Amino acid sequence: MHHPAAIQLDSLTKRYGDTVALDDVTLDIAPGERTVLLGLSGSGKSTLLRHLNGLEQPDSGSVSVLGAPVATARGRELRQLRSRVGFIFQQFELVGPRTALENVLTGALSELRGPRLGLLAYPKALRVRAAELLAEVGLEERAFQRADTLSGGQQQRVAIARALMQQPEILLADEPVASLDPESSQQIMALIRELAERRGLAVVCSLHQVELALGWGSRVVGLRAGKVVLDAPAHSLDESAVMAIYQRAGDDSVAPPARQLDLNGAAA
Ligand SMILES: Nc1ncnc2c1ncn2[C@@H]1O[C@H](COP(=O)(O)OP(=O)(O)O)[C@@H](O)[C@H]1O
Ligand SMILES: [Mg+2]
Repeated sequence: MHHPAAIQLDSLTKRYGDTVALDDVTLDIAPGERTVLLGLSGSGKSTLLRHLNGLEQPDSGSVSVLGAPVATARGRELRQLRSRVGFIFQQFELVGPRTALENVLTGALSELRGPRLGLLAYPKALRVRAAELLAEVGLEERAFQRADTLSGGQQQRVAIARALMQQPEILLADEPVASLDPESSQQIMALIRELAERRGLAVVCSLHQVELALGWGSRVVGLRAGKVVLDAPAHSLDESAVMAIYQRAGDDSVAPPARQLDLNGAAA
């Protein structure tokens, strides 16, 4: 049986002034697929993700998500599209002074009219759903704790629960563990994988740790200067195959081994 793609990019090109952030990117991502975007800082990962929920518009080419073109979506259509696409960020983007539970509930705002302040402003069914999600990410006991008093890993769990609150069909994650220690990073990636599998979600996640990417994704897409330079099933790749992404054009020298290299350029 033919399944329509969750995400289709066709010759997507995006420029910022003289910078070509995305250069003729064509990709089909199937429902349930777990795709890792790998590439150096500046290679276009965030720009690609931002096109998938209409935060950016292509200069040329097209973006289609869940069968609908993103570029022409406006107003209600765009809000509807965004509610089907959950987004997780490196810096969590929680409302610090609010409780974990309230932060999760804000994920349901697209189902409601107007802003809500305080727990009781939300219908009971949504409060129940939010509490269940907090339990699912392992934070049952933190429901009434202020978000800004949680650890980084806990904050990212809240952000994941918030993204799932909108019952998305696609989950986007932009360097979701870049601000976390290695152990929390492993736990958060495992959690994203488990929750996505349980729901059959397609996930597109940018990372800069090669080892983590290979163990986690079902597919690896490598970007260099906005171009797709690698697109393969994760199981078919080893670290040296992936390191080819990081060689500069025209540079035949072998890149340092992944373990010693923080691909965002900081010391490992
Ligand atoms: N809003 C913007 N204005 C100008 N340049 C941008 C903007 N967003 C991204 N860029 C540029 O586009 C390129 C790709 O950036 P980005 O998608 O953030 O890469 P990555 O997420 O892989 O680090 C970079 O050269 C970056 O400086
Ligand atoms: Mg980025």
